[in-house]
Amino acid sequence: LRQPIVAIDGPAGAGKSTVTRRVAKELGLLYLDTGAMYRAVTWLVMNSQIVVDDESAVAKIVKGVKIDLIPGNTPHLPVEVYINQQEVTQAIRTPEVTANVSAISAQAAVRKELVQAQQNYGVEGGIIAEGRDIGTNVFPDAELKIFLTASPQERAKRRLSDLQNQGYKDINLKQLEQEIIERDNKDSNRAIAPLKKADDAIEIITDRLSIEEVINKIKELYSNL
Ligand code: C5P
Repeated sequence: LRQPIVAIDGPAGAGKSTVTRRVAKELGLLYLDTGAMYRAVTWLVMNSQIVVDDESAVAKIVKGVKIDLIPGNTPHLPVEVYINQQEVTQAIRTPEVTANVSAISAQAAVRKELVQAQQNYGVEGGIIAEGRDIGTNVFPDAELKIFLTASPQERAKRRLSDLQNQGYKDINLKQLEQEIIERDNKDSNRAIAPLKKADDAIEIITDRLSIEEVINKIKELYSNL
């Protein structure tokens, strides 16, 4: 019998990573950051002298690509990300990768390869996965599906503090908000597995909620499974 699967979907900056990581730790579930996988492929393409829109060149690169996600040993340490044995934990979080990731994640060959890898992680259950299409496409039979959102203004503020923590200075909040809206539009309007709330997902709007409150809500829903 497989263990439960928890799917956490939602737009950029809704707090998915922080919340998912903490819930994984507290419930003893395997944490799967699917966005990190799309970011890693984007990084690889950008470092391979091919343009992100060259679908056949991207398809060649992504075929059989090896992505390893190695959990940090405290909840504060990020998961270490490797692609084809190269460590890219920090490199996949730059604004340049962020600006190109939607063009990569819209491509059929990329999604086919990565969704397969994600489903392999989940065969035995006991996993909490965050992304855009987890509840709709990767794990449509997940026992618990959460759709985390917040207003674009709130999400931009959270991204700003993430970036500041990474050492970026002089970031324009309005511009950041614009970029977030643009990325969500691309992710929501692509042909394959767009960002969308699954019919059976529970929506949590996080604007006025603390991280603790969101975590407790998810843990409560999980304990009622
Ligand atoms: O969650 P994060 O911001 O790291 O995701 C980066 C990008 O990866 C998203 O903007 C989206 O284009 C893509 N993505 C996706 N499907 C997922 C997870 C992420 O298309 N399940």
